[in-house]
Amino acid sequence: MISSFHRPTKAIIDLNAISENIKVVQKHIPQGKKSFAVVKANAYGHGAVKVAKHVHSLVDGFCVSNIDEALELREADIEEAILILGVVMPDEVPLAVKCNISIAVASLEWLELALSEGISLKGLKAHVKVDSGMGRIGVRSLDDAEKLIAGLKKVGAEVEGIFTHFATADEVDQTKFNEQLQFFTNLVNNLSDKPPLVHASNSATSIWHSETIFNAVRLGIVIYGLNPSGTELALPYPLKPSLRLESVLVHVKEIAPGSSVGYGATYVAKEKQFIGTIPIGYADGWTRDLQGFSVLIDGQFCEIVGRVSMDQITVRLPKNYPLGTQVVLIGHEGDHEISATDVAQKRKTINYEVLCLLSDRIPRYYEW
Ligand SMILES: Cc1ncc(COP(=O)(O)O)c(C=O)c1O
Repeated sequence: MISSFHRPTKAIIDLNAISENIKVVQKHIPQGKKSFAVVKANAYGHGAVKVAKHVHSLVDGFCVSNIDEALELREADIEEAILILGVVMPDEVPLAVKCNISIAVASLEWLELALSEGISLKGLKAHVKVDSGMGRIGVRSLDDAEKLIAGLKKVGAEVEGIFTHFATADEVDQTKFNEQLQFFTNLVNNLSDKPPLVHASNSATSIWHSETIFNAVRLGIVIYGLNPSGTELALPYPLKPSLRLESVLVHVKEIAPGSSVGYGATYVAKEKQFIGTIPIGYADGWTRDLQGFSVLIDGQFCEIVGRVSMDQITVRLPKNYPLGTQVVLIGHEGDHEISATDVAQKRKTINYEVLCLLSDRIPRYYEW
């Protein structure tokens, strides 16, 4: 989708907030651990290249989800290590090797497929993925991990690392987290040939279980200043949200009692009132379930009334406002704030999804 630069709806990304968040987290984890910034999904909607360029000197490398995201960084001259966290099919290995991109290798079947297809794994940088309980990808036993490491090395791959991912590190109940940790720790301790990098910590693990970090962390949502648990656990130290979403009133009118607003005529004014229209809608990731949520105008919460359309929303205003009046959809205004976590709660989802769904139609502007 083309970015709509001539429309007043925009996301403002505070790159310094991202670098400060990285420094704050690094200050609170044991010294000497390597850090990877997770910039997959266009850096959670912030812009992967801009974020990577701004923070590259603070981290040891970047994590992305697939080879196209890795290539985007290489094409932008990012030289640090890049690890692809998802499965890359074997036919893409030559590209990964050529561009010095490390990949997760998650099964013996993958190795067998690569060999049966005659694909050379010489020079491939691999991190063996262990499924310690997440249930998505990874080997599930010490035996398979040993075989995979040996098999990769035998055909000339470099096994740089071994890693796992926690399913519940952001929850109050630590039972499952502890089970996964124990499984992975036992597996790593019993490896006859341990790869140099051992990593398991995402944001939640890094901030709430920093004593369990092996020798590297993969920092995602925290670098964007948000709480990985939403509201379940308090952040142990403050972080600064790095994305602000703004627009303006493009239309304001007074409507009479009995007038309806929006598709389905679901909102009918009970009394005379002012309605403002804002150019953002579900095609921007401002989804239909935000009907009834609020935006900030002139330091006040104004309710989204009527259905969210593809390109527009309508809000009830306390008074008449001039066209061009600023609207804050995510961020501070006056004494109030709407956070991505607030939006997520209204939508019964997580702040990650709110950020990632902000579509390319919304241009990103950068401050630092
Ligand atoms: C394997 C892996 N590591 C790290 C992360 C970063 O997670 P977070 O944003 O919670 O730090 C993710 C994100 O989904 C992931 O899939």
